[in-house]
Amino acid sequence: MEFINRPYAPAGGFAASNLINIDDFPEAETNYVLDLAEYYARFLKAGKLPPARLAGKTQINLFFEDSTRTNLSFELAGRRLGADVLSVPVAASSVNKGESLIDTTQTLVAMGAHALIVRHREPRVHDELAKRIACPVINAGDGVREHPTQALLDAATIRSVYGTLKGLVIAICGDVKHSRVAASGAVLFSRLGAEVRFVGPAHLMPAPYQMPQARRFDTLADGIAGADIVMALRMQFERMEEGGKDAATGYFETYGLTHDTLKLAKPDARVMHPGPMNRGVEIDGALADDERRSLILKQVFYGVATRMAVLDALITKGAAF
Ligand code: ASP
Ligand code: CP
Repeated sequence: MEFINRPYAPAGGFAASNLINIDDFPEAETNYVLDLAEYYARFLKAGKLPPARLAGKTQINLFFEDSTRTNLSFELAGRRLGADVLSVPVAASSVNKGESLIDTTQTLVAMGAHALIVRHREPRVHDELAKRIACPVINAGDGVREHPTQALLDAATIRSVYGTLKGLVIAICGDVKHSRVAASGAVLFSRLGAEVRFVGPAHLMPAPYQMPQARRFDTLADGIAGADIVMALRMQFERMEEGGKDAATGYFETYGLTHDTLKLAKPDARVMHPGPMNRGVEIDGALADDERRSLILKQVFYGVATRMAVLDALITKGAAF
């Protein structure tokens, strides 16, 4: 395993103060974080601890929606960098006594938090928090709107395999309408030079004015023809209206990703999925488990490295020490 040199921060220092929208990181900041993610990935692959850049810093995770990957990878990321990491047990916290989100977060900052990682079902609450508290706010998912660290970790994963996103065709399939993963991913992947497509039935597509950078396809054959990467999405039943479960009826037969349907894409196309998967609904288990075609566990691995990079960049602002 080859180590690589630590990348240089953008000239003038790391400019972004928060990560709420994927566009909060301009080009130089995005490239720096992706390079830093690869730098940290080398340590993780070698089973070595990197320099404790966040020793003496406190990171607090505050998740109002369920999570396995995002919550735990942020926790590991902070620990790997030497931070003290706390996760608020929301279900057993004073939130249940009526404490507001602002009061809760101000309380955490008064305890000494240097970064708050927040997942919440309400779109845009993070903007309000960022105005009111004096430490970086990192969006770990807000309703259907954005999941910026997922987009960054997906880009880091793709770069680790293809070297670049430039010129790649990335087809995002399924419940695009309710997916914050698709929303942030489409913006970032296009900015990094990929052609992004959305594939799925009309009732799972966002309104035409939303995410105009992606071409839309209602058949799998057209949508993934020539694709380098095919990303499956879970049906976000929890965000659908009453009767939303019907969205899954017949879906696998028409849009499900299998070894067979993947033949419609480029011969060596890879599959991705942000997780959690519903095997047999949007993706076949045998394809998800096929290491030659599936990048799904690599995405999880890069989740830790990328979140190390995001925490380091926002807390230390890229300072050399
Ligand atoms: N874990 C991702 C999210 O929180 C995708 C999903 O839940 O399907 O948006
Ligand atoms: N991909 C993702 O955000 O997973 P979790 O919902 O488990 O955090």
